[in-house]
Amino acid sequence: MTARIIDGKAAAAELRAEIGREVAALEAAGKPVPGLHVVLVGEDPASKVYVASKEKLAAEIGMNSVAHRLPAETTEAALLAKIAELNADDGVDGILVQLPLPKHIDTGRIIDAIDPAKDVDGLHPINAGLLAGGKTGLVPCTPLGCMLLLKQALPSLSGLEAVVIGRSELVGRPVAQLLLQADCTVTIAHSRTRDLPAVVKRADIVVAAVGRPRMVKGDWIKPGATVIDVGINRMPDGKLAGDVDYAQAAEVAGAITPVPGGVGPMTIACLLRNTLTAYRARRG
Ligand code: GUN
Repeated sequence: MTARIIDGKAAAAELRAEIGREVAALEAAGKPVPGLHVVLVGEDPASKVYVASKEKLAAEIGMNSVAHRLPAETTEAALLAKIAELNADDGVDGILVQLPLPKHIDTGRIIDAIDPAKDVDGLHPINAGLLAGGKTGLVPCTPLGCMLLLKQALPSLSGLEAVVIGRSELVGRPVAQLLLQADCTVTIAHSRTRDLPAVVKRADIVVAAVGRPRMVKGDWIKPGATVIDVGINRMPDGKLAGDVDYAQAAEVAGAITPVPGGVGPMTIACLLRNTLTAYRARRG
């Protein structure tokens, strides 16, 4: 079997276009457009690229897109003051603080300070708690992107066996909660899981989010399964590889996301969607 490729690049472009139409309709009705504010502290090269991309794509669909670039030596107090300023500004609908933060700043304290109604990353404990309770506040962007791709790939998720590999706050845990909400039977596997290949073999849906290149092998995959690869690993030759051995898995799976061009592009599209969701919840 050769798997169908799940085209995240196309799905993300479509989602952005749809959000762009909604923003245009707000503007045509004389309403303010949603405002997305991304905060970058320091000079991490990958973070700089991500922030520039978020800034550009938000502007492209007509949002008020602002990036706040702060020096690496910014104190925690100064960053908290910036967040307080954005929280208080009615024109700000979404606040995203790009991670990782410099070591001298307590990430948890910063996330906790963001108004949960503007937390478009979905990382505030209030939003994580709502998700754990089966309700939805703002949902983390990458997990949301995974779910949109799955819903596009499969007619129904109800009753399917889903195995999530990885238990991070940013991806593994929230994607498991979303799969549960979609009535999947969910297993969260992690570094201490015994016989991971056997666990993965049960899955109708595999979500790999571990950050280890090509760790998931083709013979771990149940024939016909749907594979969502969240990993983006830079290889020594400069190329990108996912957490799944794509060449092997594509021979067995029913459908699979490529890297790049799978989950990655969906993340920013979902950030824009969250910004519109936050706007509507706060300003109607
Ligand atoms: N750094 C890498 N991924 C993310 C993300 O989803 N959100 C934030 N804020 N920072 C990141």
